[in-house]
Amino acid sequence: MSNSHSSPEERHSVLHIWGRQPLSGHVTISGAKNSALVLMAGSILCSGTCRLRNVPSLLDITRIGEILSALGVKVSHSQGILDLDASEITQSKAPYDLVSQLRASFFVAGPLLARLGVAQVPLPGGCSIGDRPVDLHVKGLQALGAEVIIEHGVVHARLRGNRKRLTGARIYLDFPSVGATENIMMAATLAEGETIIENAAQEPEVVDLANFCRAMGAQIRGAGTNRIVINGVPQLHETEYSVVPDRIEAGTFLLAGAITRSEISLSPVVPDHLSATIAKLSEIGVKVAIDAPDRIRVLPTEQFRGTDIETLPFPGFPTDLQAPFMSLLTLAEGDSMVTEKLFENRLQHVAELNRMGADIRLKGNIAIVRGVPQLSGAPVQGTDLRASAALVIAGLAANGMTTVRGLNHLDRGYDNIEAKLRGLGAKIQRAQEAEIPAAPAESKRS
Ligand code: UD1
Repeated sequence: MSNSHSSPEERHSVLHIWGRQPLSGHVTISGAKNSALVLMAGSILCSGTCRLRNVPSLLDITRIGEILSALGVKVSHSQGILDLDASEITQSKAPYDLVSQLRASFFVAGPLLARLGVAQVPLPGGCSIGDRPVDLHVKGLQALGAEVIIEHGVVHARLRGNRKRLTGARIYLDFPSVGATENIMMAATLAEGETIIENAAQEPEVVDLANFCRAMGAQIRGAGTNRIVINGVPQLHETEYSVVPDRIEAGTFLLAGAITRSEISLSPVVPDHLSATIAKLSEIGVKVAIDAPDRIRVLPTEQFRGTDIETLPFPGFPTDLQAPFMSLLTLAEGDSMVTEKLFENRLQHVAELNRMGADIRLKGNIAIVRGVPQLSGAPVQGTDLRASAALVIAGLAANGMTTVRGLNHLDRGYDNIEAKLRGLGAKIQRAQEAEIPAAPAESKRS
């Protein structure tokens, strides 16, 4: 993900964290970033206005809003409610400057193609966690009857021959890619006939997208399994829809509670979306109680043990929580082995955690973590969204002050993280790079 477009304030602001403060209380979990982004792109499928509720306030949401506006969608966002009026799509070409800032902008390809019969979307490019090709998206759209040419870094897709609509097809994904499943599913909602996606991604965000499309009149079954069946309809209608709670934000707060040996409760959450994380916490000795269908609580645990983690597609352990979970394992009793299977460059937090006194060795995509008794605060650099979250988690438990740089990453994906943590009693403050404020005596609860 390019940083070149972040504002100077984002680039130069830092978070100071004074660690070892016990946390307590309740956190409200925001709507899922990864759902909201794809739902916003999905609004292109409807030639009217869709209202999304529970939309998090994030840089990535603003960016995809800008891309939709450039295509002609009228976007208005106020207090978590987003109105997307896609009655007139005036452009089939997404602007490179905006697409290059946000990989998820490739989500507009499927809906544009389905709605207009043509889409031109620049290749989003790789980002710091890996290459992230879009070949599976492209193969899927081709199977649905699109002619796709990639020229000068732009994916040009249009209906083949003199077709009026995409045509349903049987599509097998070589890998259950979340983004490819979503792009193909959106395109297939308006195709003629039946589409079957085999080896589909089963992530909750895929299910949320299917539910949103169904609320607009799409015929989709099987979302949440590895076989999704879509029967195309000629058009979709307006709807109102509430974004599912963010399981990655919730997991991050569970880990914040665990590493500070604190009791904190979270809602709204869907506990089933956090099964792998809760199972791993329980395996190392950290208890999580499910208090209500939408509320969970992490209980204080003095000692926890190391374990092995391997990231996998859902319902396996989420790659997005690999880095924050590793922060917890740095303080475990014994050794852990963390294997990153989804992205080739998603262990950049290791060097930064070691700067804080962790003992982690890297061998390719495997991190061997030897538990240490304590971490010590240090200046550290967040290199991607979840790596930054991992450093915040580590900072909460470290002795002294940790300064996390690279907030342009953190702000992409966490809605007001420092206010939420302050509300739990953390001593955390955002500042411009040069300022080193005195430690706040009393943390303010908000
Ligand atoms: C989504 C999430 C991201 C999460 C990831 C895996 C969004 C906006 N982002 O990303 O937070 O970490 O799922 O849970 O929803 N791949 C290919 N060819 C393709 C597509 C993917 O080789 O056409 C590879 C990727 O390079 C990667 C793996 O498949 O190695 C998984 O990627 P994918 O599931 O597509 O993740 P995203 O949708 O990009």
